[in-house]
Amino acid sequence: MTAIRPGDARDLPFLEAMLYEAFFWDPASPRPAFAEFRESVEFRKLLAGWGRPGDRALVAEADGAPAGAAWFRLWTPELHSYGFVDARTPELAIAVAAGRRGQGIGRALLDALVETARAGGFPALSLSVSPENPARGLYESAGFRRVGESGTSWTLALALEPAAVPRG
Ligand SMILES: CC(C)(COP(=O)(O)OP(=O)(O)OC[C@H]1O[C@@H](n2cnc3c(N)ncnc32)[C@H](O)[C@@H]1OP(=O)(O)O)[C@@H](O)C(=O)NCCC(=O)NCCS
Repeated sequence: MTAIRPGDARDLPFLEAMLYEAFFWDPASPRPAFAEFRESVEFRKLLAGWGRPGDRALVAEADGAPAGAAWFRLWTPELHSYGFVDARTPELAIAVAAGRRGQGIGRALLDALVETARAGGFPALSLSVSPENPARGLYESAGFRRVGESGTSWTLALALEPAAVPRG
């Protein structure tokens, strides 16, 4: 059974493990050792100081253990990741543990994170993905569209309507 819950700083080791999976999504590409790569500047900056305004994480648990995570953060023109659009648009990252893929967890996490962003009043979400990554199909089916590119990766974005206010 899978449940999705908010993540916090205690989940950072799992978020790091999932960030490593997102970096090295391509099974055909060699992977550096996790312990070595987690010390690199490009890796460290992405989760450094977790808990600043705009940070949100969701963790999917299956059979009582973390199975996947999705999160977003705000960045600035001076400090950002590959999928940066503007300072008001958080950039998301997502990964599911290798043995848990293809069971709907990624889609459930992405849908829940989109709702989290909408409820938080953010105008849009962005992300960076290789056009070769099958994850692109997941993003496009959720409505993300290409708005630019950075190196060999595409920047996708999803505009968010404010959550409907119940009447009555
Ligand atoms: C991308 C990822 C998070 C999707 O999670 P998941 O739990 O496997 O996905 P789901 O079971 O919910 O499937 C959702 C969609 O993902 C897409 N998809 C993702 N990976 C796929 C793959 N290897 N082959 C085919 N389709 C894939 C399909 O469009 C699928 O849609 P469908 O259900 O209509 O077939 C997961 O495969 C993963 O962790 N990949 C490695 C890390 C990564 O690439 N992260 C994104 C970096 S930008």
